[in-house]
Amino acid sequence: MIRFIEDPEERRKISRVILEALTDWFEVEESREQYIKESADQPFWAAFEDEIPAGFLCLKETGKETMELAVMGVRKDYHRKGFGRRLFEAAKDYAAREGYSFIQVKTVRSGVYEDYDITNEFYKSLGFKELEVLEEYWDAANPCQIYVMSLKSAIGTITTRHSYRGKFSSDPVPREDLITIASAGISAPSGCNKQTTDLVIVDDAELLDKIKGLIDPPVAQTAPAMIVVLTRRINAYRDRCFAVQDYSAAIENMLLAIVELGYQSCWYEGHITDDDRICDKIAAELGIPDEYDVVCILPVGNALDDFHAPSKRPFSERVRFNGFN
Ligand SMILES: Cc1cc2nc3c(=O)[nH]c(=O)nc-3n(C[C@H](O)[C@H](O)[C@H](O)COP(=O)(O)O)c2cc1C
Repeated sequence: MIRFIEDPEERRKISRVILEALTDWFEVEESREQYIKESADQPFWAAFEDEIPAGFLCLKETGKETMELAVMGVRKDYHRKGFGRRLFEAAKDYAAREGYSFIQVKTVRSGVYEDYDITNEFYKSLGFKELEVLEEYWDAANPCQIYVMSLKSAIGTITTRHSYRGKFSSDPVPREDLITIASAGISAPSGCNKQTTDLVIVDDAELLDKIKGLIDPPVAQTAPAMIVVLTRRINAYRDRCFAVQDYSAAIENMLLAIVELGYQSCWYEGHITDDDRICDKIAAELGIPDEYDVVCILPVGNALDDFHAPSKRPFSERVRFNGFN
């Protein structure tokens, strides 16, 4: 289990326990003590097994756009259990949510020490890319490899997007951002380019309140803006209608744009298209013509609550090469 740790004293305690168990990597006492001291004031995540700390990670801002993975350690007896990866995912989600564009991490370059070779492979497996080696940054015996990861690449955004169902801040979403998001939606592919998806952006506070009032049980009640997704169920050719595929592609594009701009959202379709047909009430409120169906709402806003990635079936269970083997 991964937990964000708030209390500076607990941060110090956990970092001490872990770093003192990892003297192969954190050999020099003075720098170890420095890491422990600094960790108290940094965004800090710890991994636990049976309430025992297995590892931790903390981040440090190194520029307006960049967070550094300041220190990370997982006790050797807990290696190969996915703790490091999950700690990193939590930290990466946080950095993306806070609007940072990059994460960097420094380590000793590959080819010098075996333990650090493993560290290099680990960072690369997380998606870090080599930026530069600074031969003298620490000292000649420990060339410093800097890795970097863009949090705003398509793949970075895809892996940091999760459904957000918490509270939003009341900060309005600027029109230009809503336009960027909607433009991403209508740029999506559509069967035979029939472009069956239309959108209504709702950012007028009074109208938004009316829409929210129709959603029972309530969801997205604090969102400062909402995108209502409409579809026209027209055929692409013969009797083939791709409207569902078209609006699904548009929704995913918008979810990614929302996350890339630092906002959060959730694909609310089941909730509004169930037997109680909240979607039809929303359509009536917005004056949507009969030939369109409201199929989904996407709240847009800045997240106030923490949230976690849901567990997904592992890659190896869902993806195969060259046949279903
Ligand atoms: C077609 C569709 C309908 C969905 N409807 C709802 C919904 O009504 N309410 C909700 O909370 N989430 C809804 N979701 C979001 C899913 O629950 C969510 O994508 C899934 O649990 C995986 O989590 P993730 O988005 O964080 O990866 C919907 C997603 C899809 C693709």
